[in-house]
Amino acid sequence: MAWKTVRVSVPATSANVGAGFDSLGLALSMHNVYTFSASDTVRIFSTDGTRIPTGPNNLVYRSARAVYDQLGLMLKGLRITQSNTIPMARGLGSSSACIVAGILGANALLGDKLTPRQMLTLATAIEGHPDNVAPALLGGFVTSVYDEGQVYTVKKDIDAELAFAAFVPDFRLLTAKARAALPQMVAHKDAVYNLSRAALATAAFCDGDYALLDVATKDALHQQYRLPLIEGGDEVMELAQDLGALGVYISGAGPTIMAVVHKDDTAFFDRAGQALATGSERLRRFALHRLLADNTGAVVELEQG
Ligand code: HSE
Repeated sequence: MAWKTVRVSVPATSANVGAGFDSLGLALSMHNVYTFSASDTVRIFSTDGTRIPTGPNNLVYRSARAVYDQLGLMLKGLRITQSNTIPMARGLGSSSACIVAGILGANALLGDKLTPRQMLTLATAIEGHPDNVAPALLGGFVTSVYDEGQVYTVKKDIDAELAFAAFVPDFRLLTAKARAALPQMVAHKDAVYNLSRAALATAAFCDGDYALLDVATKDALHQQYRLPLIEGGDEVMELAQDLGALGVYISGAGPTIMAVVHKDDTAFFDRAGQALATGSERLRRFALHRLLADNTGAVVELEQG
């Protein structure tokens, strides 16, 4: 049966959650929406004026083509529309959203030939690590391991009592640059510092013991190397900590700073918003978004032709 249009909604994601480098990630209530329909040529449109590549090098299209390739099928073109709410290159999983959308859209057009596990594996292979694509697909708080081409995940719903304060700056930081800033080798004590905290953060989210997040979201493997690339990032982290956030970390590769707070902590958002508006020039470059968890993950809807 042919489908006229496939509509895919994909949530923003926040990877690492501090210590869980390339492993932990969570999905948030901010979404990009994509539509896919058959076409003999590549036709890609942004519905909101966001500048996006409109040729075959478009990440959504490339990810869709990867599905065709995996199934041994030819792809001449597709009509794709993108409605972008997730800011690009800000550490909120905009690339993963494109990858997941392309894979889900193509798979739906082709009659669901790939299993969810095959799609997660393909998305991870394209992205290089699973910590954004897994929660983008599955929603919630996801722990992942990528080993020899296989992805192993556990997803847990995030408590509706939590909110996420995303401090998003007006500048981009490319993941490649943020990864290039990391050392090749780390000290054994730093590895222990992180593995114990990544385990604790996972247990804290699973058990609802959010008082542990302050210590559990600390990190010794990437944040100290990336903060110099995020002008004002140290001030924002300090601000969020001073205002009583449960945990504060660099979202993904940055430059967004993420604070985990209680949903009813309106004082946090009021004070943080005021501090950004009236603070230093560096602070004024950050915008505050109040987000909730998305425990659903990507959603595919079909319009029958
Ligand atoms: N784990 C990745 C990183 C997330 O920190 O580089 C960004 O893609």
